[in-house]
Amino acid sequence: MSHFYNQLEFPETKGDRPFVAMNMVSSIDGKITAGGAQRPGYPGSPFDRHTMNVLRTHFDAVLAGGNTLRQHPYYLGVPSEMENMRLEKGLDAQPLTVVLTRSGTIDPASPLFIKAPLPPILITSPEGARRMAPSLSAQACIEILPKATPRQILALLQQKYRVGRLLLEGGPQVNYQFIQARLLDELFLTLHPSLIGNRADLSLAMGDKVLDRAQAIELAAVNRYGHELFLRYRLIW
Ligand SMILES: NC(=O)c1ccc[n+]([C@@H]2O[C@H](COP(=O)([O-])OP(=O)(O)OC[C@H]3O[C@@H](n4cnc5c(N)ncnc54)[C@H](OP(=O)(O)O)[C@@H]3O)[C@@H](O)[C@H]2O)c1
Repeated sequence: MSHFYNQLEFPETKGDRPFVAMNMVSSIDGKITAGGAQRPGYPGSPFDRHTMNVLRTHFDAVLAGGNTLRQHPYYLGVPSEMENMRLEKGLDAQPLTVVLTRSGTIDPASPLFIKAPLPPILITSPEGARRMAPSLSAQACIEILPKATPRQILALLQQKYRVGRLLLEGGPQVNYQFIQARLLDELFLTLHPSLIGNRADLSLAMGDKVLDRAQAIELAAVNRYGHELFLRYRLIW
């Protein structure tokens, strides 16, 4: 099926770190959850879910935070019929899945590990590693980073796992850290025609301070499908 994101151009390299993009879907009033942070309500359409998979065909690895992963406990890969799209771009058939978890709270019986095409990479703290279920070491690559700053995470993924392009898929706590560290190059944002309104729902990036302002955030592409808008932004720091 043709899709406006089938063919995307990205800069060749960012030199000392992987290229970093983010993909999120938001309601018109800027909410990325619907029904409270703890419920897996999600404001996107089936076409947006397809778009998420198309975007995954361009990246070496896809990363999510512990809360997102516990709510949607699946490998962050592409459907088997899309593997060819990756192979044609010179990528492996499936992206690596990377999960951030300070606490180490990952269920070894999670669907994440069922038929995982590659062992998921779990980036955790020394404390998290101590607390993790021992059986996880046979199911995943466990990486211990005491601070796990975005820059350290990128260095690990580039040097050890040869990640050249990384796709962030949230949630807001993880997104905030990468933006605050000025380590986000592009943002793919789906604007879904819904209004959520609930105060307890989350927005795209959430932390303690106002984010540093990028030098520019350029609107690189606008696409429409039905009443959803698919926006592509380029961040210049
Ligand atoms: N609409 C969308 O496009 C979209 C996309 C993604 C997610 N979401 C929603 O976002 C919500 C979750 O967002 P959230 O902000 O609460 O959580 P999150 O960002 O998904 O995960 C936060 C967790 O990630 C781990 N973490 C974060 N930074 C870390 C670091 N530097 N090193 C190690 N671990 C780190 C910690 O896990 P531990 O707790 O395991 O220590 C932390 O509690 C869910 O409701 C989900 O449905 C929406």
